[in-house]
Amino acid sequence: MPRYTAESKERVREAVDMIELVGARTDGLRRSGADSYIGRCPFHDERTPSFSVKPSSKVYYCFGCQAAGDAFNFVMETESLDFAGALEFLADRCGITLEVEEEDPRAAERRRRRDRLLELLERTCSYYERTLWESPEGEGARRYLAERGLEEGLLREFRVGFAPSAWDRVLSASRRGGFSEAELLACGLVLRSVDRPGSVYDYFRRRITFPLCDQRGRVLGFGGRIMGAEDPRKYVNSPDGEIYHKGRHLFATHLARPHAAKAGSVVLCEGYTDVIAAHQAGVRNCVGLMGTALTDEQVGELARLAPRVVLALDADGAGQAAMMKAASVAAGQRFELRVAALPVGSDPADVLRTDGARAVKAMIDGSLPFVRFRVERILASGDAASPEGRDRILDELRPVFEELPAGAMREELEREVVSRLGVSEKLIEQLFAGRRGGAATAPGRSAVAAPLAGPERTERAFLELCVALPERGLELLEALDLDALFAGRITRAAAAHLREHIQNPSAAVNDSDLAVVLAELEVRAAALTPVPAELEAERCQLELTRVARAIARGRGAGGGGLLELQREREGLSRELDGWLSEALEQTAAPRA
Ligand code: UTP
Ligand code: MN
Repeated sequence: MPRYTAESKERVREAVDMIELVGARTDGLRRSGADSYIGRCPFHDERTPSFSVKPSSKVYYCFGCQAAGDAFNFVMETESLDFAGALEFLADRCGITLEVEEEDPRAAERRRRRDRLLELLERTCSYYERTLWESPEGEGARRYLAERGLEEGLLREFRVGFAPSAWDRVLSASRRGGFSEAELLACGLVLRSVDRPGSVYDYFRRRITFPLCDQRGRVLGFGGRIMGAEDPRKYVNSPDGEIYHKGRHLFATHLARPHAAKAGSVVLCEGYTDVIAAHQAGVRNCVGLMGTALTDEQVGELARLAPRVVLALDADGAGQAAMMKAASVAAGQRFELRVAALPVGSDPADVLRTDGARAVKAMIDGSLPFVRFRVERILASGDAASPEGRDRILDELRPVFEELPAGAMREELEREVVSRLGVSEKLIEQLFAGRRGGAATAPGRSAVAAPLAGPERTERAFLELCVALPERGLELLEALDLDALFAGRITRAAAAHLREHIQNPSAAVNDSDLAVVLAELEVRAAALTPVPAELEAERCQLELTRVARAIARGRGAGGGGLLELQREREGLSRELDGWLSEALEQTAAPRA
C-alpha cells in the first residue's frame, strides 16, 4: 500500500463536501443549528434522528449509538474500506491527485519484493484455477466438488482450483516467468527436497486449492484439500513465511466484508468448504477459521467486520474452545456474540449437501445469544431426573450466571432453569448470587454502545468541556500532567492533540481511532452550553481519579505518602463541592 503524504490527506479533507457525502447515506438529514445537521443514523435503526453532523469541521456523532468520526471514518464504515482505500475513494470523488511519500531505499526494496511475491501467488492461483476448469486432470476434482453440491459460480468466485500431481508444474512455469527458486520458497509454493539436496519441488500436488486472501482480495497462500492419498493429511496449508502467517487471517474476509457491514453481523465457520456452502446458501457475511485455534488477532478482525459475531463452529472440543475464547474476548469489547447450534457431527458443508441451502440459512438465522446457548447446552447435557444430576447441572451453571449481570436476559434464563429442573426460585437465587447489581450486558455497537468505564467517562467529559470552553480549556490542558491524569491511551492522545488544536480539534488527525474520539468530543461539546464552574468541577473529578489510582497503588506498594494523598483527596473533594454549587447557581440564575 503506498503511503500518501499528510498534505494530500488534508487537501482531500478540505475538499470533501461533508453534507453531500453523509446526506447520501442518512435519511432526512436537515439543518438543525448554525453549525449542525441532524438525521436518522445510517449505523443503527432509529425513528427519531440522533445522528449529528458538524459541517464546519466535517465530523459526525450519533447520540444514539455513539458512532463517530470524520469523513475518512465515514467512508471506511459505509464502504467497508481500510484507511488508504477511504482516502483514495474520497480523492477520486474530489478530483485530487494523491502524492506518495518519498520512501527510503530499503523500504522501497522491501515493497518491490513483496509486490513480486504477491504477483507470483496471483499467477499461481490463476494457474490452479485453469487446471481445475480446463484441464483433463481437473476432471476428478470438478466431479468431486459437484457431488458435494458446491456450485460452479461460487467456486469460481472463491477462485477454487486444482494443483496437478506432477512435482514441478508450478516450479517450472514460474521459472519460465522469471521467478527464482528463492522467491518460490519465500511464498511457500515449493519445498526443499530431502532426498535430492539442492532441489525443490511443488508444495501443493494433487489437491483442490482454496486461495487465502487479504482484505483486498490479494492471494497470500493456499489451503489444499486431498484428492489422492499420497499424503494422508486432509488439508495442507501454506507454511508461515514472509507473506502468509497462520492465525493472522480469516478465510474470505474480502468477500464477506461489505455484506457483514450491511448486515451488522459476521458469521464464523470452521473450514473452507463450510464458508463456500454458507455463501451459496445466501449467508454472504460468512468467514472461516481454517482449523486453527482462534487467535486474538482473528477475534479483533471479526469485531472490526461487524458488531455482532455469530459462531457456527463444530460441536466438537476445538469448536467449543474457540467459542469460549471468543466469549472471553467479547466480554471486554463492544461486540455481541451469538452461537448457531450445528447438528452434532456435521458442519455447514454437510448440511448443504444433505438438507440444502435453506437448512444452512435457517441454522444460522436461528442463532442464540452466547449465554443462552451455554445454558441450553448444560441443561440438555445433564441428567435432570435425579437430584444428584440436578446438582451437577447447577454446579456447571453457576459460573455462567456469575458472569451474567442483572437484567432481562438473566431473569429469563433463571426462569428457564427453574422450570426445566423443577427447583425453587429461592434455590436459584441463593446459588447464583453473582453480579446482580451490574449493568445489563453490552449489546452490539449498532444498538447502544457499552457504557464506558468510570475513569474514561470522566476523561472524556473533561475534554468535552475543554473543547466547549476553549480558552480556559487550553490553559488547563497546558498546565496539567496528561500522563498522570489520563489512564486511557486514546483519551490521553486526544488530550495531547487538543493542546495543539483546541480551536479545530478534527484537523490534521492522522490516526483513525483518534479521529473517532475527537469527532465525538467536538459534536458533544457543540451541544453543551457550559459555565466555567462545570469545567473546574470536571477537572477536580479528573484529579480525584488520579489520586484514587495513586492511593490504590500506594496500598499495594506499602503506602509511602498515603497520608498526603488522603489529604489531597479531601482538599479536592472540598474544591469540587465548591465548584458544583457555583455551577448550580450560574446555570440556575438566568433561567429563574
Ligand atoms: P475439518 O476437518 O472440519 O474439515 O477441518 P472440513 O472443513 O469439514 O473439510 P471437508 O468439508 O471435508 O473438505 C476444518 C478446517 O480445518 C483446516 C482446514 O482449513 C479445514 O477446512 N484443516 C483441517 C487443516 O488445516 N488441516 C487438516 O488436516 C484438517
Ligand atoms: Mn466438511
